[in-house]
Amino acid sequence: MSTFDLYAVPASLTGWEVRAHTSSRFSWEYDDRRDQLLTLYQRGKAKQWDSEVRIDWDLAVDPDDPLRLPEEMQTLYGTPVWDRMNDRERRELGRHGLAWQFSQFLHGEQGALICSSRITETVPDIDAKFYAATQVMDEARHAETYARFLKDKMGLCYPINEQLRLLLEDTISDSRWDFSYLGMQVLIEGLGLAAFGLLRDSTQETLPKQILTYVMQDEARHVAFGRLALRDHYRQLTSVELAEREEFVIQGCHLMRNRLRGEEIWEYFGLPMQETLEAVENSVFLRSFRELLFSRIVPCIRDIGLWSPRMRDTFADLGVDNLVDADLDVLMRADEDKAAVADRARRWGVEEAERMVEVRKTIALGTESVDGGPADGAG
Ligand SMILES: [Fe+2]
Ligand SMILES: [Fe+2]
Repeated sequence: MSTFDLYAVPASLTGWEVRAHTSSRFSWEYDDRRDQLLTLYQRGKAKQWDSEVRIDWDLAVDPDDPLRLPEEMQTLYGTPVWDRMNDRERRELGRHGLAWQFSQFLHGEQGALICSSRITETVPDIDAKFYAATQVMDEARHAETYARFLKDKMGLCYPINEQLRLLLEDTISDSRWDFSYLGMQVLIEGLGLAAFGLLRDSTQETLPKQILTYVMQDEARHVAFGRLALRDHYRQLTSVELAEREEFVIQGCHLMRNRLRGEEIWEYFGLPMQETLEAVENSVFLRSFRELLFSRIVPCIRDIGLWSPRMRDTFADLGVDNLVDADLDVLMRADEDKAAVADRARRWGVEEAERMVEVRKTIALGTESVDGGPADGAG
């Protein structure tokens, strides 16, 4: 069956072409090796997985309620628009909301596939090219996995959201290589990671939990790669050049904030747009969701050296400036641990798996105190 048969609203185009003028860069220096990037490259190679094998696709999922999330996690929950709906309408709205969310994950993954192949081509250093090549394969697997979940388990898709499309267009069409990192590895993947994490930790349904957990295991490497490469590069830029990057991030953050409004869904259900958008603005769930979404972006922006007063004001306006002290390395190690738990749970059951991770942590602590630091510093 064609994906076009599953779109809730017609996709305006059957494809999309973005023009860009970039330079393909070769490097003849094969010994230009930064240890942390090479560690990431090694992990990228070693941790490849096949969704066909690692995910239990035979597990049944209720297409009407695939993640069995509490209704408090619906954007309109508790608003007058919600109160006027009956149970059947609320369930249907939840199904479409989730299909919309996973569809944006899917289109974002295709964007990441395009961006990481662009980075492989345009980044000047050989170690970054090597690593980016592993990410190309990661993103293809992610797009494959989300597409299969949407088609086989939900039977419903949404086209790409306009704000996500605009941010992707800005990211891809800029000829400067670091803008691909900034738009994709920092903004889009940062938001994606936080959204995947909320759903992963909120659902008890095994199949979608496996998908989100394993994708996040890879994404933790991708964001770490963006941080390492940009931190090095931005140390050498002038204040004018840095200001251009800050402007790009500020625009991108506003686009991503507005992406969460979900106009397409309200339009599909024929809800009064003005009233619904006001309800969305005041939604208790969306407000905390928004804060969570920026939790991976704000500390990363500071980390790569774009933490100017203007940037601080932008995050204060968005109500997320308090997130600056979040420890990305801790969050990312937790993402990897959760993937290890999911793997073991498939074999031995959840309790045994959690016990093993505890044992591993205790051993690592012992090693740290002997060596004076963790063996794996890539984050
Ligand atoms: Fe991805
Ligand atoms: Fe990624």
